[in-house]
Amino acid sequence: KMEEPENIVDVVMYHLSKNDDLAGKKILVTAGPTREAIDPVRFITNRSTGRMGYEMAKEAARRGAEVVLVSGRVNIKPPYGVKLVSAESAQDMYEEVMALSKDCDIIIKSAAVADYTPKNKSDSKIKKQPGDMSIELDRTHDILLELGQTKKSKQILIGFAAETNDLIANAKSKIERKNLDFIVANDVKKEGAGFGTDTNIVTLIDKEGNADHLPIMKKSEVARAVFDRIVKIL
Ligand code: CTP
Repeated sequence: KMEEPENIVDVVMYHLSKNDDLAGKKILVTAGPTREAIDPVRFITNRSTGRMGYEMAKEAARRGAEVVLVSGRVNIKPPYGVKLVSAESAQDMYEEVMALSKDCDIIIKSAAVADYTPKNKSDSKIKKQPGDMSIELDRTHDILLELGQTKKSKQILIGFAAETNDLIANAKSKIERKNLDFIVANDVKKEGAGFGTDTNIVTLIDKEGNADHLPIMKKSEVARAVFDRIVKIL
């Protein structure tokens, strides 16, 4: 049976555009939203589609790296040449990432991880009762923070920051607090940036506080700009 034409195009494009900028490097990328179960039929999630993270993984593979993509539930096909590991909740993502991170040279945390999860996950569907209800939430692991704490000297750690205000100041404080090499910050309130679009408007901010404001770009072009920066650091 003939392979799907779009898969053939992916493989051809991969081989035609491949280079060896990152040959021999192991790269871990996280992408997509997490789902925090309330009961078997309900969960808390966010608007992430995973597109930015999947473009990051695709670009890393195109540059010759060995890539593992830890992803929440999304509706995107994994890029050719990338190993996919599925993770549903913040806890699943934490466990997969901490286990895989030890022997990775570069870690890119583009996933939109839930900061809170329901304290009690009901095994059966919760029935409605008269009156209001509230759900108590526990903090999840801050995966990026823990990666920063266990970071090895030559590892490169890159965070994403989705902000709605004080973009630069918040991003700078995250770089310090989480021991990052740089951060890809975007103002999710700007048109053409953030969740659910093909484009993004990002600012790359490094440890020294240098801010590189990029114009509106396709997410694939943002991925290219981020990896150009990584190659420079290497
Ligand atoms: N992140 C993470 N683990 C979490 C929450 C977030 O690893 N439990 C990572 C994301 O993958 C992203 C970065 O932290 O790379 C920034 O996430 P963001 O939600 O913008 O910021 P927070 O660190 O959660 O800070 P705040 O809520 O103060 O904005």
